[in-house]
Amino acid sequence: MRSATKFLLRPFRKSDDKILARRINDWSIYRYTMNIPYPYSVRDARKFLRKVIAQYRQRSSMGLHLVIDIDDELAGSVSLVKIEKGHKAELGYWLAKEYRGQGIVSRAVAEMVKIGFNKLKLKKIYAYVFTNNTASYRVLVKNGFKKEGLLIQHVKKNGKLKDEYILAKYA
Ligand SMILES: CC(C)(COP(=O)(O)OP(=O)(O)OC[C@H]1O[C@@H](n2cnc3c(N)ncnc32)[C@H](O)[C@@H]1OP(=O)(O)O)[C@@H](O)C(=O)NCCC(=O)NCCS
Repeated sequence: MRSATKFLLRPFRKSDDKILARRINDWSIYRYTMNIPYPYSVRDARKFLRKVIAQYRQRSSMGLHLVIDIDDELAGSVSLVKIEKGHKAELGYWLAKEYRGQGIVSRAVAEMVKIGFNKLKLKKIYAYVFTNNTASYRVLVKNGFKKEGLLIQHVKKNGKLKDEYILAKYA
């Protein structure tokens, strides 16, 4: 870890709309993720915020999305989706470019994994990673995730079929 930049994980709030749109509207995020539009407008942000704020209030099993907050400003996000209570969920994350390479997401994932195992009582947390997404693969391995498989031509991104790894960690 090269820095002690402090962050906290917190729920999304309505006022995150503009900063969310500004920071996530980035090809380097879009290229490695499946459910994030590009370009990403403030309207996209508001639609997303309505959904995740409602999910948080209802403790929905659709997803738990938390903000990586640095200096009281949204810098990224870490999420558990497709939550099957007492069983498993899928992990996802992104961080704005200017904060990368400081171990922030590795630490955010460690916190989210604790929430998943200790609060949601999950037995398994898994993640899909494009085979060329080395930074994301490192984040998972550093958190004790193990590669369980190579999924060939598993997803289509920009008209191209992409291979991905599935990694998982068990309680
Ligand atoms: C993946 C991502 C979240 C990592 O965030 P981060 O806070 O920079 O991650 P960390 O600093 O905790 O760890 C990154 C690790 O990858 C390594 N890394 C970063 N870029 C790399 C590259 N191009 N090649 C090889 N390793 C790389 C870092 O050295 C570090 O590993 P180390 O601690 O062993 O040195 C961030 O790059 C991102 O938002 N990417 C776009 C969205 C994305 O890919 N999301 C995940 C989809 S599965």
